[in-house]
Amino acid sequence: MIHNMQNIRAQFPQLQEKVYGKALVYLDNAATSLRPQSVIDCWQEMALRYNANVHRAVHKTASEATLRYEAARKAVAAHIGAASEKEIVFTSGDTAALNLVARCFGTAFIGEGDEIIVAQSEHHSNLVPWQMICKEKGAVLKCLPVDESGHLQIELLPQLLTERTKLVCVADISNVLGLRNPVAQIVRLAHEKGCPVLVDGAQGIVHENIDVQALDCDFYTFSGHKVYAAPGTGVLYAKRKWLEAMPPYMGGGEMIESVAWEGSTYAAPPYRFEAGTPNIAGVPTLVPALEMARLLNSADIAAEADAVRDFVLESLSSIPGLRLFGVPADRQEKLPIFSFTVEGAHHEDLALLLDKMGIAVRSGQMCAEPLMTRFGVTGMLRASFAPYNTMEEAEFFVASLKKAISMLI
Ligand SMILES: Cc1ncc(COP(=O)(O)O)c(C=O)c1O
Repeated sequence: MIHNMQNIRAQFPQLQEKVYGKALVYLDNAATSLRPQSVIDCWQEMALRYNANVHRAVHKTASEATLRYEAARKAVAAHIGAASEKEIVFTSGDTAALNLVARCFGTAFIGEGDEIIVAQSEHHSNLVPWQMICKEKGAVLKCLPVDESGHLQIELLPQLLTERTKLVCVADISNVLGLRNPVAQIVRLAHEKGCPVLVDGAQGIVHENIDVQALDCDFYTFSGHKVYAAPGTGVLYAKRKWLEAMPPYMGGGEMIESVAWEGSTYAAPPYRFEAGTPNIAGVPTLVPALEMARLLNSADIAAEADAVRDFVLESLSSIPGLRLFGVPADRQEKLPIFSFTVEGAHHEDLALLLDKMGIAVRSGQMCAEPLMTRFGVTGMLRASFAPYNTMEEAEFFVASLKKAISMLI
């Protein structure tokens, strides 16, 4: 089925917004995506009609709310190819999911002298929790570096992996470099040494149809808000064997089996990891959000998105003084996340000028300070496209960027 881009764009109300009287060109999708009407409707319906706590009361509204909450668990499991919805834990976001694994896996499996390998390009959310657990346990944090073009130096992984390595942590797509990391190869190499792998899917879930069983990763995490769902929603996928072996992260309501003064026993996964009242209105929005993600990743829309990517890639490469970070060996490994600096023009000044032209981009360290240090820069400008961004918007962005550069240099 051929989809009409204008019909798709009409489903995202914020795309009709104006800033400074100009049409908004939203190119900050890697920070958070826009929300389609289907998500807004679901969110509103949950607040208007099904506002009751989940998993607790026997009344009708509570059971409707619980049904919708659990339907989202099934939808997430189906979307990412999990073996069972029992392998899906809801959290408040990707950061919370990563911290959950660091705390629970760390408590159970990491001891003094053990090692965790983290890629140099990771978002702080997939680095700082590992620094914290390493410090606490006396474990060693090892770095899988990136080369000058932004590719992971995968050839170094076999020697980094030792019998003390307890986990490898890597994003499928860096939020700065926009390159597809060779996660399947990483999983294979790590598993050969008996080491599990955590994949941070914050960006990957947006642009790819993920199959966690085919990938064979042990953990996969993402935030709802980057993939069109309500903010305050997040997902941890973990193979059942890990969920069963890990102790809980937080104690409280609904994560227990039984409680006495002398002590408590815990519920089976995934509930063991979902203490307290969850995001009742937000979680069900994952259902329409992931439907939208499937639609936007379907072949005809993906072909348009690829054309936009190719155009931006070529245009940026031809701007004098522009240094792109995350230079693909071939276009197919590049996602439409473009981070760059321009000699003689500060990234924040460029971002402010683009904003005045109606274009929303990100500037700064992108929560990846070690990567900035790696490339010897204090920050970058990032334009991140979603499949609903058009060629016209891409052309306007490139022309506006050139204009902004000419105003500064
Ligand atoms: C690759 C990556 N990991 C983790 C995160 C953290 O996500 P959140 O702030 O939604 O928890 C982000 C957000 O930008 C990201 O891009």
